[in-house]
Amino acid sequence: MRFDILTIFPNIFDSYLKESIIKRAQKSKLIKIHIHDIRKFSKDKHKKVDDIPFGGGAGMVMTPQPLHDAIKHVQKTNKGPVIFLTPQGETLTQPKTEKLASKNRDLILLCGRYEGIDQRIRDTLVDREISIGSYVLTGGELPAMVMIDAISRLIPGVIGKEESHQQDSFSKSLKRKKEYPHYTRPATFKEMNVPDVLLSGHHKKIEDWRKSKLK
Ligand code: ADE
Repeated sequence: MRFDILTIFPNIFDSYLKESIIKRAQKSKLIKIHIHDIRKFSKDKHKKVDDIPFGGGAGMVMTPQPLHDAIKHVQKTNKGPVIFLTPQGETLTQPKTEKLASKNRDLILLCGRYEGIDQRIRDTLVDREISIGSYVLTGGELPAMVMIDAISRLIPGVIGKEESHQQDSFSKSLKRKKEYPHYTRPATFKEMNVPDVLLSGHHKKIEDWRKSKLK
């Protein structure tokens, strides 16, 4: 699965996507991530990518020309939907990440900054708008990384054993509920004991206890 990210802050992605599971997934070619600097597509002599809003008001708006050209450029190689990350979009949920992972379609992730992007781009080039929660961030870069992380870990082979996401919070097998508590060794830590049932070796009882702890 290929992700193309459009951003005016490409360096933001240097850390997170180059570590741990997402790094390994790229190395083993299970996912590909390409980052594109929107500013490079600006035809303005100062490489401007924003301007004041028509009608007045606070904040700047991302201008349509660099966005248009950047999207068109990426669409030459990525045939998937253009997803704009915005607090005004539909909220991302586990069933939605599962659907995106199982479709295995490439995605173009468009990160906005400032007050937003020119509406004409949303009207003509954006296929879907996604929010990662009801709060406002400084831009779509973190939400793009959240999406890549949540989708990638569901692609077969990205996480070691298949089971390790079968029992995830919000998964179908946990009836979309939040996961049960986990304990590891030692059995006693600072006078706090692990529940007896987990040490019993009685699989049915353990399963029942875990079910009773779902929220
Ligand atoms: N951009 C700013 N805030 C956001 C959010 N909550 N979700 C997606 N994109 C955003």
